[in-house]
Amino acid sequence: MLKVEKVHKKFQARPVLQEVSLTVGPEIRVIIGLNGGGKSTLLKIIAGIVAADAGRVWIGERDVTGFSSEDREVGYVPQHPALFRHLTVRENIRYGLKNGRGSAAMVDRVIALLALAEVLEKKPEVLSGGFQSRVSLARALASGPKVMLLDEPLSDLDLAIKEALLPEFKRVLKALALPVLYVTHDPWEAGLVGETFSVLAQGNLFQIESAAEAFEIMKKNGFGSLPAVR
Ligand SMILES: Nc1ncnc2c1ncn2[C@@H]1O[C@H](COP(=O)(O)OP(=O)(O)OP(=O)(O)O)[C@@H](O)[C@H]1O
Ligand SMILES: [Mg+2]
Repeated sequence: MLKVEKVHKKFQARPVLQEVSLTVGPEIRVIIGLNGGGKSTLLKIIAGIVAADAGRVWIGERDVTGFSSEDREVGYVPQHPALFRHLTVRENIRYGLKNGRGSAAMVDRVIALLALAEVLEKKPEVLSGGFQSRVSLARALASGPKVMLLDEPLSDLDLAIKEALLPEFKRVLKALALPVLYVTHDPWEAGLVGETFSVLAQGNLFQIESAAEAFEIMKKNGFGSLPAVR
């Protein structure tokens, strides 16, 4: 269980998040919002990388609000994930075990789930973008996190690769039965990966029934330019 309660955040007096609350069970919750809307800030607050001005974060049964990032047991794939170029795929994944969390069994499991066995001794630069994204996900999962946070993890990929990879990511995340927050600005992508959906607009989170509904909420809340409908 992931719970965020009344989180506020301003940057230079400009409010980015205003009393944002949400509860995520073992499901893939997508947060859809336009560029600059505060999506990455919300994930960084949950991951313990950015401090909120007010509000609390629970992971499992623990109130982790004052905890460092390392102590939160969160798996985080940042917006433009960078793999270590000088390390092999295997070493990149094992890097996720830092702080003594996770296990060899968990590493083996994510390697199998993401079909990475064939490329373990390769350097990331010889892999396709799709495979690099799988390695980034595997690295974040290796420590056996209690919650997964994915910040537009496929934004650097071509559409066709994304379309193939999204169901794959969904299958892997479901197999691990974790609360997942998946952030995107794209309702099409949201529909392919998500099970439940929220919109982040003008600093507030709105619960919606489907990814398609995201357009309506975004319009109502006064957003001028919307992502193109596919
Ligand atoms: N460290 C910071 N200092 C000052 N302003 C910041 C900082 N981080 C983010 N912001 C501002 O806060 C707002 C929200 O940024 P954030 O990156 O959370 O949005 P986002 O929804 O993830 O956007 P994108 O879709 O472009 O990734 C933006 O206006 C951004 O410029
Ligand atoms: Mg962002």
